[in-house]
Amino acid sequence: MTAAPLRLGIAGLGTVGVGVLKMIHKNAKIISLRTGRDIVVTAVSARSRSKDRGVDLSGFAWEDDPVALAKRDDVDIFVELMGGHEGPAKDATEAAIAAGKDVVTANKAMLAVHGQSLALAAEAAGQVIRFEAAVAGGIPVVKALTEGLAGNKINRVLGVMNGSCNYILTRMENAGLSYAEVFAEANALGYLEADPNLDVGGIDAAHKLALLAAIAFGTEVDFDSVVLEGIGAVTIEDIHAVADMGYRVKLLGVAQMTGRGLEQRMTPCLVPASSPLGQLEGGTNMVILEGDDSGQIVLRGAGAGEGPTASAVMSDVLDLARGLRLKTFGQPATTLVKAHPATTATPASFYLRLQLLDKPGALAKVAAVMGEAGVSIDRMRQYGHDAGKAPVLIVTHKTTRAAIDQVVLDFNQTQVVEAPPVALRIEAI
Ligand code: NAP
Ligand code: HSE
Repeated sequence: MTAAPLRLGIAGLGTVGVGVLKMIHKNAKIISLRTGRDIVVTAVSARSRSKDRGVDLSGFAWEDDPVALAKRDDVDIFVELMGGHEGPAKDATEAAIAAGKDVVTANKAMLAVHGQSLALAAEAAGQVIRFEAAVAGGIPVVKALTEGLAGNKINRVLGVMNGSCNYILTRMENAGLSYAEVFAEANALGYLEADPNLDVGGIDAAHKLALLAAIAFGTEVDFDSVVLEGIGAVTIEDIHAVADMGYRVKLLGVAQMTGRGLEQRMTPCLVPASSPLGQLEGGTNMVILEGDDSGQIVLRGAGAGEGPTASAVMSDVLDLARGLRLKTFGQPATTLVKAHPATTATPASFYLRLQLLDKPGALAKVAAVMGEAGVSIDRMRQYGHDAGKAPVLIVTHKTTRAAIDQVVLDFNQTQVVEAPPVALRIEAI
């Protein structure tokens, strides 16, 4: 190799950090052939120096303080793999930029909250921040949007971006278990974040969606405007009922620019069981990009884990080694516009599940409420009666969330619907 080695300082030696060390070691030859230079790790940082991480750290300088690591003269790229939107991750990222280093990070939380200010700071300093690993693990979705679809107007970005939630929902369905049972199981298996609400509350996935929306629509990252609802209220009854109607429940992220502003949602939705999203099992992620001219592009793969996430980190590192210095959000941060959040969602069909009292005229009252709210019924199914109650499933034609909320409120006045009815959006794929 004639070019000088590219020197990495890695802060964070957990799942992802160790994966990156292993990959650099294992694929050193391929990497140097592809980039024309060696990629080496010069220094590392973590909280515990003595922890056995299953990799040999003896060849690397050790820093207790990630900020000191970020400023080292023998570091060209600061690789931030600690996590957290404040504290050491942000401090060290800012220090790296100020010290003239490029940054590669897997930290969606930090970028969802501080992405705009960090991108501005990096670009003002002539540095680059890249974050392929922050969204959907090993799936190269940031690259697909920033590079593959660089010339397209993006109409919609949607997908399943949290593997733990998809694991829980598909395990509930396949094993016939309740949310509480599968949540406990997933937690015991270590599938959930230290704060499980980041997963099941939809926050982690919403961080990812907000980052993709910024690239797709040229807007400043606007995590606060993501309409957010976790999977905690999804029941096994609904999972079974929607399956019977040809759907599956997914924690679905959707971002689209509408005439009403930027719509960003991370909520449990129904998707057709026969669609690519409907067939997604376990901890796998799927992101669908819809561009003008390109049509729909479906990306599917491992959204987390040592190898997949390290592979995404390395793709950013290799870009920098090859001299590809793309802007964090695909265009100068100074040109990103403030997002104007849409206050209402695009109309959709909805699924309703009611517990109806089994008496004459009950269904007529339900139909009247829906008619008065202007909500049209597409399909309906009533199941066997149990103790004078009949579960009724309704799929509506396209309508607004406001109309559905009104219908649900009005059902309570009918005296024939046992509260609370369930209403879930059906996303058109
Ligand atoms: P992790 O296993 O919890 O590892 C975090 C590492 O950061 C640990 O080595 C920890 O040190 C170190 N650390 C924490 N605070 C520190 C501090 N103040 N100073 C120095 N080191 C510190 O986390 P991870 O799963 O590898 O995730 C890392 C990042 O990647 C996060 O932003 C996460 O959201 C993102 N990510 C992870 C995945 C995944 O599959 N795990 C996928 C996509 C993105 P000790 O080991 O000594 O405690
Ligand atoms: N907790 C995340 C998930 C890890 O389950 O997808 C990757 O961000």
